[in-house]
Amino acid sequence: MTLMARAMFRLSTTNSFTVTARAKEAKHPDVVHLPDKTRNSTILVLGGTGRVGGSTATALSNLCPDLRIVVAGRNREKGASMVSRLGKNSEFVEVDIDNAKSLEAALRDVDLVVHAAGPFQQTEKCTVLEAAIETKTAYIDVCDDTNYAMRAKSFKDRALAANIPAITTGGIYPGVSNVMAAELVRAANAEGKGMPERLRFYYYTAGTGGAGPTILATSFLLLGEEVVAYNRGEKIKLKPYSGMLNIDFGKGIRKRDVYLLNLPEVRSCHDVLGVPTVSARFGTAPFFWNWGMAAMTSLLPPEYLRDRSKVQQLVQLFDPLVRAVDGIAGERVSMRVDLECTDGRHTIGIFSHRRLSVCVGTATAAFVLAVLEGSTQPGVWFPEEPEGIAVEAREVLLKRAAQGTINFVMNKPPWMVETDPKEVEKIPTLSKAFVWKDCMSQMTSSEDGMEKVKLQKNVEKRSQTGHYDWIWGLASGTCKLQC
Ligand SMILES: NC(=O)c1ccc[n+]([C@@H]2O[C@H](COP(=O)([O-])OP(=O)(O)OC[C@H]3O[C@@H](n4cnc5c(N)ncnc54)[C@H](OP(=O)(O)O)[C@@H]3O)[C@@H](O)[C@H]2O)c1
Repeated sequence: MTLMARAMFRLSTTNSFTVTARAKEAKHPDVVHLPDKTRNSTILVLGGTGRVGGSTATALSNLCPDLRIVVAGRNREKGASMVSRLGKNSEFVEVDIDNAKSLEAALRDVDLVVHAAGPFQQTEKCTVLEAAIETKTAYIDVCDDTNYAMRAKSFKDRALAANIPAITTGGIYPGVSNVMAAELVRAANAEGKGMPERLRFYYYTAGTGGAGPTILATSFLLLGEEVVAYNRGEKIKLKPYSGMLNIDFGKGIRKRDVYLLNLPEVRSCHDVLGVPTVSARFGTAPFFWNWGMAAMTSLLPPEYLRDRSKVQQLVQLFDPLVRAVDGIAGERVSMRVDLECTDGRHTIGIFSHRRLSVCVGTATAAFVLAVLEGSTQPGVWFPEEPEGIAVEAREVLLKRAAQGTINFVMNKPPWMVETDPKEVEKIPTLSKAFVWKDCMSQMTSSEDGMEKVKLQKNVEKRSQTGHYDWIWGLASGTCKLQC
């Protein structure tokens, strides 16, 4: 991109809402037409030789072939192999993010940097964000650590002064899950009946999700952190990998056990979306990995699990076994976000994909495109902040991120997406009601002679304010769903 175009791109970030509205999809559903001023941008992907960074680089070059992709890492061989897969509009640069000089040199002629060179846990500084501000480069990280994300957020004023849009926690989870939560809250507030009361993030990944040793290190490091959750506005601290729940992730994933983990979206969504009760849980497969994680939390001292070098040794020990099991477990991934309101309204979003190693890149690429389209204001933002991803741009972002999913639903009551039929009990006016996952709902006649109510499949499509809402409202207002 020319210097002139670069300046225009930077200026355009202040007019975010209008630019986003004008962004057009190409005729080919997978290819995105960026605005002229950012179409030929140069994107540096730090950690581009790894799973998340590599997947992001691949998604970006497929979605926007005109973007120049610079893959960065410490290993030339891995870099050359990645570039050969990406094709002619890409190159490799050797960068160590712990070396400020090499970092700034790599950022000099770049329009946007994606930081995927984790792990983010137990790091002291935000070297990449600082270099991005210094060189006036737009920034996205896929951080999944609360301390790191909060530290990144503290650079907001410096990024604002430099007129640089930056997003922290812009991957799949956290990232897309934050945007899903923001959309559930927006829809509930728009209805204006009850107040959002409880937000819960549930994540499932088979094995390591086809990821590398870094994700294993990330998981171990997270086990060393007390879990921060919010209960009616009060911050509480809980034991990691405790509080198991069996959650229905719907089609393609079904029911899975999930456990409390310390994830940044809990704090950011509590602060930004103003929901008083928030928590996040994670589970993996096969089941014995969950037991292993719980055992590690109980047996190893937290200081050990917080020590990056000790955790690296642990990872080397476990890695061959983990890889072997990964071969059998596959890499399915699912996120379920639940929002409950004071009037009993309960809505959820589900995002399920067969391959984490693919969808994490598609998700991160969706954030990159949003920034290039001018949806992000200067400053450092979480994805759920309207200055991070403009409200009008959320739907497009979710649509792009959801490409290739086996199940993606938003704003539905749980019974419509869960795999097993639910029995609704204790309805004063109706003796019994059954709800099937295929949206056909039937209520038997009541003791007071109320007529049989039958809802057909197309009711869901008709409208959310038709019969379906009445039934749901009646059920949720007068009884408890057995979930
Ligand atoms: N938000 C989300 O949705 C999400 C989802 C999954 C993972 N993540 C996070 O993404 C991160 C990466 O995971 P991954 O599975 O992609 O790991 P990975 O496959 O091991 O890749 C890590 C990459 O970082 C590079 N790297 C590491 N240290 C570096 C340094 N000092 N300087 C330059 N490059 C460095 C590595 O390259 P070289 O070793 O060749 O230099 C490699 O390319 C993890 O921290 C993980 O927690 C986030």
